[in-house]
Amino acid sequence: MTVSKPGVGIAGLGLISKTHAAAYKRMSDVVDLVAGCDVNPEATAAFTAEFGAKTYTDLQDLIDDPRVDVVDLILPHHLHYDAAMAVLDAGKHLILEKPVAPTYEQSVAIQRRAAEAGVHFMVAENSRYIAAYQAVHRLLREGAIGEVIHARTYLRSNEKAHLSMPGYWRTQFKLGGGLVMDTGAHSFYLLKWLLGEFDELTGVSKKVFPLDNEIEDTAEVYGRMRSGAHFSCGFTSVSEVPHSERLELFGTEGGILVDQMSDPVVKVFRGQHDFLGEAITEVPFGPDAWHPGGWHYESVITEVTDYVRSLVEGRPPLIDSGDTVYAMRVVEAAYESIQSGKTVTLPA
Ligand SMILES: NC(=O)c1ccc[n+]([C@@H]2O[C@H](COP(=O)([O-])OP(=O)(O)OC[C@H]3O[C@@H](n4cnc5c(N)ncnc54)[C@H](O)[C@@H]3O)[C@@H](O)[C@H]2O)c1
Repeated sequence: MTVSKPGVGIAGLGLISKTHAAAYKRMSDVVDLVAGCDVNPEATAAFTAEFGAKTYTDLQDLIDDPRVDVVDLILPHHLHYDAAMAVLDAGKHLILEKPVAPTYEQSVAIQRRAAEAGVHFMVAENSRYIAAYQAVHRLLREGAIGEVIHARTYLRSNEKAHLSMPGYWRTQFKLGGGLVMDTGAHSFYLLKWLLGEFDELTGVSKKVFPLDNEIEDTAEVYGRMRSGAHFSCGFTSVSEVPHSERLELFGTEGGILVDQMSDPVVKVFRGQHDFLGEAITEVPFGPDAWHPGGWHYESVITEVTDYVRSLVEGRPPLIDSGDTVYAMRVVEAAYESIQSGKTVTLPA
């Protein structure tokens, strides 16, 4: 299916919607940003002032707008399922921010409904579009480090201001809050994409900084991939370093180190005496994550661009949304382990 000059409506005009909107603006020759929706009048007023687009406070009104061909859902997690189903029931194209939905069952249902509806569906998981990880994917395919036997990810952010806001959805489990829910979705997707399925895991979480909310600010999830590789994923939302990510892969013939705070961002090492390693120069150094040129910002721009171009060109987007659904199975298993204190085996 191809759609020429689709009209996009964004639902949820908060933090990350700004980057989605910037991507649509950059592509104004192929897409029209026609509407926005938010329950917060300040957010809708700012959106109208910047884009001159119509705004709504009710999602169904945005969906029913005949100029809206694509709905971009950028909402708090507990709203993802109902909102996605409403878009799909209306037969509109859907781009949905990660995590797909708070439960694996809901995530599967959304993906299935999207297939039934025959619309262009993509989960916006920016990890697939981070230049460093694209380089790593290529290096693994080329066999640069042999077989991966140990993988580590580390996501560090500082959400102290957000997570101190009384009533903010990210501070409550029932609204889809939780560090592993929010950021585990990224790391588990990344490992699924690069290395395949998970076999078993153990999760531990802590609250190490005294904010008045119920969610964890630090977590570790580790275990075994089905390939036999050991993995370990670390998360913190209270770090006093810039928002950044690390990935370390150790293979039978070498290793790859990725750190968004290091220049070069990606280095390949071949053996214990390879002290200098090989810098992967195709990956730009852009440590200011949330601004133009930053590793995160540019990945979201590339992600939204791929969604629109794939719709217009009638091809699938680069990302396999099934992997983002799978990541929610791993998120669920991680919380099961955190709560039970036991290792959890994932079904094949
Ligand atoms: N890819 C990434 O790295 C990344 C980064 C940030 C956020 N996200 C994802 O984007 C989504 C939104 O996160 P955010 O940080 O922008 O959150 P946010 O809290 O900044 O924004 C959410 C917006 O939704 C609005 N809203 C709440 N209920 C609504 C309703 N019923 N109808 C319409 N609008 C409603 C809020 O008023 C707010 O403006 C989440 O799924 C999050 O995980 C992804």
